[in-house]
Amino acid sequence: MSQSIVIRGATVVNPDAIAVADVLIIDGVIAGVGGSLQADIELDGTGCYLSSGFVDLHTHLREPGKEEAETIESGSRAAALGGYTAVVAMPNTDPAQDNVETVRFVREQGIVAGLCEVVPSGCITIGRLGKQLVPYARLVEEGVTLFTDDGTGVQDAQLMQRALMLGKQLGITMAQHCEVASLTTGAVMHDGECCSSMGVPGWPSIAEEQMVRRDIGLVRATGAKMHFLHLSTAGSVDLVRAAKAEGLPITAEVTPHHLALQDELLRGFDPVFKVNPPLRTAADIEALKSGIADGTIDAVATDHAPHAGHTKEQPLDAAPPGMLGLETALGVLNTAVSVSPQQIASLMSWAPARIAEVSQRHGRPIAVGEPANIAVWDTSTVWTVSRDHLSSKSRNTPFHGMDLRGRVRHTIFNGELVVRDGKALK
Ligand code: DOR
Repeated sequence: MSQSIVIRGATVVNPDAIAVADVLIIDGVIAGVGGSLQADIELDGTGCYLSSGFVDLHTHLREPGKEEAETIESGSRAAALGGYTAVVAMPNTDPAQDNVETVRFVREQGIVAGLCEVVPSGCITIGRLGKQLVPYARLVEEGVTLFTDDGTGVQDAQLMQRALMLGKQLGITMAQHCEVASLTTGAVMHDGECCSSMGVPGWPSIAEEQMVRRDIGLVRATGAKMHFLHLSTAGSVDLVRAAKAEGLPITAEVTPHHLALQDELLRGFDPVFKVNPPLRTAADIEALKSGIADGTIDAVATDHAPHAGHTKEQPLDAAPPGMLGLETALGVLNTAVSVSPQQIASLMSWAPARIAEVSQRHGRPIAVGEPANIAVWDTSTVWTVSRDHLSSKSRNTPFHGMDLRGRVRHTIFNGELVVRDGKALK
């Protein structure tokens, strides 16, 4: 029998209520909320919120293929430290997650690491090459529910339409990386004033918005579910808002970095700020925030994209895009955006659990009988990010040296204490 755990003094965050209560966990399940509870392990939750564990819809774990940047184990540890009890593993591995063996490997390595649930996504097209559809039914049998070619968008509209038609039949979700590649050739940053003054090739907002617009049309035509990954522009938020008002089955995420950082940061040509889609303008950031406020944006997802030092520390045009995100997500969101504890839980746990279809186990109410996947976090601790103290194998955080408000104290995965007082226990 596993050790019982009691968390004392935290404010329990549920969709319908928020109140201080002790929480007891026995054998992987919430066994008590409130009352006089005793357990083997006592955790201090005072000054913290206690919610269902966070669920990241967008994590690059790099294994198989780029283990020098991250492994499933190191990425899972970073996730647990960030309060995540489940992460969706992006498919741009090598080999790509377009086959049963790779999907099974990723899931199983997650189980071996035992720090959070690793939920493999599947590719939309074989090898993410945008030419041939993956046999989805085989991957659905393996439990895959979210399909994406993330890192690239599916350029061919007819192919995307067929993917959505099959998606509709199988009840799965297509998640699009919205980028019309012919509009972003060679681009290193947002195509705006800053980019022009630096004299580097730009990634225009329209390259994202064109694909959002096209795919909304395809969703309207097919009735299939679509999730928009890492939206970054004001125009995209407007398009999604209108599509949702029509009742289309669309969901959308933004990243913490797109809410907190502007294109101006690239003036120093530092590749740590290079990301795809790129950091945008202050007006875009305001639009993303209003998308959060009115529910147009369902989820905050990290796009945790580790890159080994020797690849990232190159000139801006040669460096790969991507930033670390798992360990800083809560602090960045809470620092950059005015959000309530219930909004945080909704954006980082309840909604992404539904989108990833893991809500039998994650993103559930804190109530007796529910699975014990739990994060205990505060919104008041100010801490300074140091790339040397993050547990990811890579160092490419754009938040190095910045003060963030809000931090994860404890994470409980499947009833097991995996992070205690901000330290990973395995
Ligand atoms: O910046 C990014 N990095 N955006 C993506 O879509 C892919 C990711 C990566 O895999 O490095």
